[in-house]
Parts: sequence; structure tokens; C-alpha cells
Amino acid sequence: MDRISIIGGKHLNGSLPISGAKNAALPLMIASLLTPDRLTLKNVPNLADVNTLARILRNHGVDLAVDGKRAEPSPYLGETFHLTARDIVDTTAPYEMVSRMRASFWVLGPLLARCGEARVSMPGGCAIGTRPVDLHLMGLKALGAEIDIDGGNVVAKAPRGLRGTRIAFPKVSVGATHAALMAASLAKGDTVIENAAREPEIGDVAECLIKMGAKIEGVGSSTLQVQGTPRLEGAVHTVLPDRIETGTYAFAVAAAGGDVELRGARIGLLERAFAVLKQTGVTIAQTPHGVRVARNGGNLKPITIETQPFPGFPTDLQAQLMALMTRAEGTSVIRETIFENRFMHVQELARLGADIQLQGDTATVNGVKALRGAQVMATDLRASVSLVIAGLMAEGKTTINRVYHLDRGFERLEEKLSGCGAAIERLVSG
Ligand code: EPZ
Repeated sequence: MDRISIIGGKHLNGSLPISGAKNAALPLMIASLLTPDRLTLKNVPNLADVNTLARILRNHGVDLAVDGKRAEPSPYLGETFHLTARDIVDTTAPYEMVSRMRASFWVLGPLLARCGEARVSMPGGCAIGTRPVDLHLMGLKALGAEIDIDGGNVVAKAPRGLRGTRIAFPKVSVGATHAALMAASLAKGDTVIENAAREPEIGDVAECLIKMGAKIEGVGSSTLQVQGTPRLEGAVHTVLPDRIETGTYAFAVAAAGGDVELRGARIGLLERAFAVLKQTGVTIAQTPHGVRVARNGGNLKPITIETQPFPGFPTDLQAQLMALMTRAEGTSVIRETIFENRFMHVQELARLGADIQLQGDTATVNGVKALRGAQVMATDLRASVSLVIAGLMAEGKTTINRVYHLDRGFERLEEKLSGCGAAIERLVSG
């Protein structure tokens, strides 16, 4: 298994390209199931999760063609995918596929809306929590689906199609909002979705559905109104920049020190995270081509935050912020309110010399004078990159094992960081 080796202490300077958002590309690819016409997606990031989903969609009968890399307008722009679900030949998504990439469970809504039936494996839990799907099923039932659980699979039927309705989610869920929005787009009649997630990736998918002919009001708010239509068409859509990648590299610059322009980044996609970063003493500025992040000298001030659904502080940046705060001047308090087990990085950060106490859903981080490089283990996608951030600060060499977690969500990470001066390399094994 590949490993990543980092020699800490180098500042980061220059510029770094931000890729298309993984958590928009995945549902956008799934939206291709809603129409027999061609959906073209630009700026698709080259990630393991995207490639896994491509295989799953092909299994359903989606023709997927990828344009070769273009020199223009920038070699860093992502790939262009052409997805055509002319005929859906298989409405099942088996365990061996869904268990490899949880978001593939999200094919359930579109398959049901397009074909009137679907048999999709329950995704099961993962490192950060039990990850239930009850809210997904609640929304589809409200739209008239008959749902059974058989041998670990969700068996969904809607022989007479889905019917518009009112869905009031008791809890904000990104995936359940995607499922309800896509299914409602092809339902007969109007649907109101209340307490919908407001993450920018939901808005990006909604904008794409509207280009495909869906009638959606309230995009960006917590109440979405959808007027069902009998058919959706093809469209061309560009994936928005990845706000989690943006925040991750912003924290990396703050950790290593230096001055970097994150090209293609948009401040408006993660205002709360940037506000927290400013509180620690880091300079943030929108530029014509992205966002400039700088910390030259000066200590990091401690912070107290809790993760919240958008527009609050994103849970997907919690591990990265914690890594940064291990070197703050004082004590920080970080509360994780979204997932029940998203502190897997704490033990690994402690191996590098961090001083972190856990009490239930709250971590208390006492800043230390220095971290020291060591062998550490990646456990899940965002925890892995928190170890990279810590390695950039640590004295000496840090080696991170199981980097396949990183490859799921960060495109060309070593290339992007070494391009700004980091001493980082991938050790390919076997
Ligand atoms: C999406 O996961 C993201 N994944 C996650 O990013 C992200 O952490 C999460 O939203 C929160 O922002 C993708 O977009 C592919 P949720 P999702 O449904 O949709 C509970 C990453 O690192 N819940 O918003 O699965 C759930 O247990 C990944 O890129 C239910 O109770 O998250 C959690 O406590 C990790 N019942 C909370 O809601 C349900 O039916 C929020 O989960 C669904 C969720």
C-alpha cells in the first residue's frame, strides 16, 4: 500500500489549483440516471470515488465517455464526463459495490423515479459513524414509494410513479435532500422539501437539474419547492470548486506558514471556515483568480467551535482544523455535532506529540511548542489529510500509511503541495 512521506518545516508559497467538488460530482453523475439524454459534466475531479461511481453507473447501463485532458484553459481543469443513460438495464446496486463507496446508495431515488423500481444494498456504517439512511427512505415513502428491507437491500417500488408531496425532514441530511430532490423532479405534481440541507453541493445539483428541465424554487434555502415533470433532458454543467479541498489547503498554509493563492477557490462557499481561520490570525483575501491565504510569522490563536450543517463550520474540515490547533498558543475546544465517531485522527495526532483530551463529542486541544515526525496511520478520508497538515508542521519526517483514504477525495495532493514548496513524496509500494 502506498505511503506518503513529509519532511516538516517548509513554508508554502506560490499558487495551488482547486479541483471540482467531490461531493457535487458524485450526485451530479447520479443525476444522469434521470434522463435518457446526454448529461455533460465539466471540471470533474480525478478521484478514486469518482472512478468507483463510474463503474457502478456503467453497471446500470450508463454510457460514460471521458474527454482527454485539454491544455486549455488550464491543465488543472478537471475532466469532462459525457453520461448517457439511454436505457437502464439493471436497477440493482449490490453490496460489493455500495459498501465500497457509500454515496452510490444515492442511485436509489433516481432509479425509482425513472424505472419505478430499485434494489440497492444498505451502505452499512463506516469509520466515522453508523451512517443510517432512514431519512432517505422517509422522503421516498412520502413520495409514494413502497419500501421493504430484504437481506440487507432496500427494495423500492413505485409502479404508478411517484407523487408530489410535503417532506419535512426532522434532521438536516445532505444525502436525503439529494434523494428527495432528484426523485421529486420526476414525480407527478408538486413537492415541498422542508429542513433541506443547504450545502453548496445541493445548490450545484439543483442548478444542473434546472438546466435539465426541472422546476425548482428556493435553491440555497432550507425549503425547496419542486414542480414534477414527466421527463428531464440532457444538459451541460460545470462542477463547482471543492470547498473542503479549499479549506484543507487553507489550513495547510496556516500550519506551514507562507502565502499561497488557492486558484479557483470561492470565499462564499466556506465563509464560516475562513472566519475561524481569520480568528487564528491568518490573512484571507479574495483575488481575481481565487483566495489568497497567508501566515508569515505570528503565533496561531486558539479557537472554540462546533461543527454544524451549512452555513456552519463543516464537519469535513474538523480534523484539519484540529491538526492546525495542535500548535496554537493556548487551548482550543472543538465539538463534533454531526457524526458520532469523527475523532479517529486524535490518537494519530497524539503520536506526533499533540496534546488532545476527548470528552464525548468534544475535543480539548492544548497547543504544544512543537510536533515531532513519526509513523502514523490514515483511518478515513478527512482524518488522513489532517495527518498531512500535522506532518507539514512536525520536526523531522512523518510517514502516513494507508493513503488510499486520501486518494478518495484529494486529487494530486502531493503534486499540489510540493508545487508550493512542501517536502512531500508518495512512496509507492510493491
Ligand atoms: C454528506 O454525507 C457528505 N458526503 C459527507 O462528506 C459530509 O460529512 C456529510 O454530508 C455532512 O455534511 C457526500 O456528500 C458524498 P448527512 P451524508 O446525511 O449525506 C444523520 C466526506 O468526507 N443521518 O448529511 O451521508 C447522519 O448519521 C463525506 O466527503 C440520519 O440520521 O451526511 C449524520 O449524523 C464524509 N439518517 C447526519 O444525519 C439519514 O437517513 C448528517 O448526515 C441520513 C443521515
